Amino acid sequence: MTALHLSDGIIKDEILVVGVSFKKSSGKGQGALTIESGDVALDTKKMLSTLSDLGATGKPDEVIKIPGTSTKLIVFTGLGEHKATFSDETLRRAAGSAARALAGNVGATFSLPAKKASAIAAIAEGALLGAYSFNKFRVDSLVNRQVGLKSITIHSALAKQADAKQALKSAAIIGEYTTLVRDLINTPPSHLTPDSFCKEFTALIKKVGGSAIGLKVSVMNETQLKSKGYGGITAVGQGSANPPRLFHISYTPVKVKAKKSYAYVGKGITFDTGGLALKPAAGMEAMKSDMSGAAAVCAATIAIALLKIPVAIDCYAPLAENMVSDNATRPSDIITMFGGKTVEVLNPDAEGRLVLGDALVKAQENKNLNGIVDVATLTYAQMIALGTRTSAIMTNNQEFSDHFFEITKSTGEAFWPMPLPIELRASLDSPVADMANIGERMGGMMVAGLFLKEFIAPELPWLHLDIAGPAYNEGEPYGYTPVGGTGVALRSLVALAQAGAV
Ligand code: BES
Ligand code: MN
Ligand code: ZN
Repeated sequence: MTALHLSDGIIKDEILVVGVSFKKSSGKGQGALTIESGDVALDTKKMLSTLSDLGATGKPDEVIKIPGTSTKLIVFTGLGEHKATFSDETLRRAAGSAARALAGNVGATFSLPAKKASAIAAIAEGALLGAYSFNKFRVDSLVNRQVGLKSITIHSALAKQADAKQALKSAAIIGEYTTLVRDLINTPPSHLTPDSFCKEFTALIKKVGGSAIGLKVSVMNETQLKSKGYGGITAVGQGSANPPRLFHISYTPVKVKAKKSYAYVGKGITFDTGGLALKPAAGMEAMKSDMSGAAAVCAATIAIALLKIPVAIDCYAPLAENMVSDNATRPSDIITMFGGKTVEVLNPDAEGRLVLGDALVKAQENKNLNGIVDVATLTYAQMIALGTRTSAIMTNNQEFSDHFFEITKSTGEAFWPMPLPIELRASLDSPVADMANIGERMGGMMVAGLFLKEFIAPELPWLHLDIAGPAYNEGEPYGYTPVGGTGVALRSLVALAQAGAV
């Protein structure tokens, strides 16, 4: 894990990272560059001419390294168009791009224009997340790997202020738990099963303090799931040699009364072959990421506990491996979900909604909830609608959705509200059961949302977050986002709890 420091003193690292922005030129030619070095004074004249010789533009994701004067190396990271105050997300991304470009080095000091504590947190988060690398399964190839920065120092004149120190602590926790989510997503199903997911989290929760910090876990195994009527989780998991689980973490704030109570429920398919509706081989490997929602809610719950946020969280991860076998659920099978609704499984590849339906009903046994949020890599249609970087928010409660949407603007995680049009609901009717698990293909993301809505008490504020595209980056790395698991939703889940604490 990368060490994080905050300083307003002399720079001890051999590498200094600063920002560079551009002003739009009125005439032709390049806009003027500005060096944005925060609270570190630099003799910029020579540097600007060097940057110009090198063809620097100051655009996001541009990182230029030149020999420094007071440090061995000075690194310029693009902030984009000049602003009097750069947004936290601009700083987060610029710090992330620089940290990525510095893999193979030991330590760096980041001095970017941060005017408040939230900007310090953003820079620290971006730098930590940009320093991520996943090498657990490399043996021979490890020697040539450039691993991420081991030490990151945020330089700021605000360093001695309490809110800056708190921001740094919080960033360290966000960095650590986002790293955990990414690691779990990147871990293949040969090494991550429903059972091992529970064991890893149980061990980790014990290590960080367990009930002393308000965290308790419980696990339901396949026998218990079957006998207690969790027909969704059972049906999805029954085709696999790695049996399903329902993992539960409860967080109750220690010594203080919870200001609010939320349930977080995450889809935990450790691998989605599509079952008997087998997916094509090309691209199937990405389905190791189908437990991203479960990893995000569990890791967020631990982060919330470590941050001592006075909000109670009931976190559920329904876990299963969607496989093909003589035990696998067949198209046309009818299952009975937890709570009693029957579902005709027309397509065993629409499995996420089945495991979530059970877990959502279970979570609502807690009658103190102020809201329930599910997080899932639920539909390919999400990517068709919003692309690979923007997640969807669906809801039964506009106010809750608006509140969450505002929060995501501060975390820098891209979300967008989508409707749940009632006219699509009829497509889920089944001629033989209460509901079918698939409906109209057009608007498939919203059809999936409408399916889940059937499992939610109408008066309970609910958010459904479809993170199918953003959870797993199959393209180029950018900003603080690497290839593979991204850890999306964790920051917003933590921020939702934080907002409930006031
Ligand atoms: N896990 C997939 C959705 C998915 C696809 C996530 C690509 C991330 C990337 C989900 O279980 C699934 O297979 N959904 C089907 C539903 C359909 C059968 C109604 C889909 O979207 O095609
Ligand atoms: Mn599927
Ligand atoms: Zn799936």
